[in-house]
Amino acid sequence: MAKEKSVYICSECGGTSPRWLGKCPSCNAWNTLVESATESAGGGKNRLSQTGRTGYAGQAQAVTPLAAIEATEVARTPSGIAELDRVLGGGIVEGGVVLIGGDPGIGKSTLLLQAVDALQRQGLPALYVTGEESGAQVALRSRRLGLDNSQVDVLSEIQLEKILATCESTQPAIVIIDSIQTMYSDQLSSAPGSVAQVRECAAHLTRMAKSTGIAVVLVGHVTKEGALAGPRVLEHMVDTVLYFEGDTHSSFRLVRAIKNRFGAVNEIGVFAMTEKGLKGVSNPSAIFLSQHSEPVPGSCVLVTLEGSRPLLVEIQALVDSGGPSPRRLSVGLDRDRLAMLLAVLNRHAGVACADQDVFVNAVGGVRIGEPAADLAVMLSITSSLRGKALPKGFITFGEVGLAGEVRPAPRGQERLKEAAKLGFTVAVVPKANAPKKPIEGITIHAVDRVDEAISLVRGLD
Ligand code: TYD
Ligand code: MG
Repeated sequence: MAKEKSVYICSECGGTSPRWLGKCPSCNAWNTLVESATESAGGGKNRLSQTGRTGYAGQAQAVTPLAAIEATEVARTPSGIAELDRVLGGGIVEGGVVLIGGDPGIGKSTLLLQAVDALQRQGLPALYVTGEESGAQVALRSRRLGLDNSQVDVLSEIQLEKILATCESTQPAIVIIDSIQTMYSDQLSSAPGSVAQVRECAAHLTRMAKSTGIAVVLVGHVTKEGALAGPRVLEHMVDTVLYFEGDTHSSFRLVRAIKNRFGAVNEIGVFAMTEKGLKGVSNPSAIFLSQHSEPVPGSCVLVTLEGSRPLLVEIQALVDSGGPSPRRLSVGLDRDRLAMLLAVLNRHAGVACADQDVFVNAVGGVRIGEPAADLAVMLSITSSLRGKALPKGFITFGEVGLAGEVRPAPRGQERLKEAAKLGFTVAVVPKANAPKKPIEGITIHAVDRVDEAISLVRGLD
């Protein structure tokens, strides 16, 4: 067969070009053209024309009404690692493709080795393909994890075609590709790790998963900006995308489902990195609180919702006199949102920070995406500005709008109950979230507007 020739496809609009260009000729986007091996050297226009029948699109096929198709439940195998099964939506799915991303050294290889060993012990043959480490290094890790006499097959290989052939001959139930950035296909001339290679290898592995029922887990690198290296299409291609989060300096790790065709998204699994690998934390609601014996200024506890469970996270703010161009920095929270909240504070609550540096941090390396963090961010900023701590046992949540209104957060009752369970005693919440019946142990103040929340907190001093 003729070796396939490269064509360049725009990752934005799908337009093609026979050679690489900085700007897409179709949609004028910059740096979007990526190499792809879809054109045959025979000069045809697409794969179909490789048969020599240009324009022939195959025979018409019978179609089936949706109602006549039987909806079969997907077969899942729980790995036995409860926190991982939770983010996967119950377990590994036959023929499912999972992409798992995260910073280097965060624990991707560790978690996957633990998972495949657990699956192998349940009788599911597993293949661990390592492109980054040698077999000896993987073995060393397995000894450290205490996985004695593990029967997981290890293959140290980076060429896609050889990996596919090995899968065909050994017939595993699950294959780990650690990592997709180290793999390369013979079909393309570009180097491993290039966008074209990553995409092509992932596409082949996905096709193999779907046609054979082998579950595939791809490990992906994360760029400095926090996105998975490689084109966005990688995330579109797979069934499930998991991200490892957390501060490498602390022992806690979060695994978050960003996309899941077989389960709920934004579900999180919480782990602690120990001497013997990752251990699930089954009751994580209080791990993101720092341990102050007395309340300190600039600290406010937020009850956030991660997937189906409430988590208490301490938000810290430091407001300090800045230079001519004051800085606004946030860790774990959106910086644009911080700028917006400062503008709302100024306009609707008369709290001006224009000449101040403002730093905001979510404790423990957790990333908070939900807008219900707004009120906690604002109250921690005002607390730091005044140099006055919030009352002991104080929690809050609620979104703040540009007009200074406080909007309700989903599942307020659950958040309040979790906080009460952990011994928090005072809450400021959006009016619509105030429960009809009191919750034992916690005094709830309902507010409509941000200035109301700020003066209410002052009154609690
Ligand atoms: P690793 O799984 O290699 O990270 P990744 O594949 O995401 O790059 O994890 C490596 C880190 O985890 C390393 O800093 C050592 C630490 N670690 C432990 O603390 N305990 C253990 O049992 C293991 C295996 C690793
Ligand atoms: Mg690794």
